[in-house]
Amino acid sequence: MALEQTFSIIKPDGVRRNLAGKILSRFEEKGLRIVATKMIHMSKREAEGFYAVHSERPFFAELTEFMCSGPVVVSVLEGENAVSFHREIMGATNPAEAAEGTIRRDFAESIGENTVHGSDSLENAAIESSYFFSQTECVNSAT
Ligand code: CMP
Repeated sequence: MALEQTFSIIKPDGVRRNLAGKILSRFEEKGLRIVATKMIHMSKREAEGFYAVHSERPFFAELTEFMCSGPVVVSVLEGENAVSFHREIMGATNPAEAAEGTIRRDFAESIGENTVHGSDSLENAAIESSYFFSQTECVNSAT
């Protein structure tokens, strides 16, 4: 087991439906610790920069429009195997395929509006966290 940090977003559909607290509680209840969090409203340019890896995908315009359609909650979460554990708590990208008890199964309405985002590797977690947070915004580990 390794202590890791991962990057998490509660997407506009989650914030719009007043689910931000409930979703953060799920992460905390399962043992992940919030080391940084804030609400932001991304510009189109910021959303395009964040999802640049998907820029050639057919859903890129839809994805980036959606991500700047309202406020989101961005967080850095810490815990044992945080990257894969956070993805397990979120469930599969497509809510129709997400396991019972996962956030996407319980709350997401479509693959495009799937309520949460989480980094897919430790390397991307560091890149994504630094896209939104400076080092001084992340507290030192309390574990
Ligand atoms: P996320 O984990 O934020 O990473 C990229 C996002 O692209 C993904 O969640 C989905 O919301 C979105 N996405 C992936 N596939 C599709 C698709 N086929 N149509 C629309 N959006 C998609």
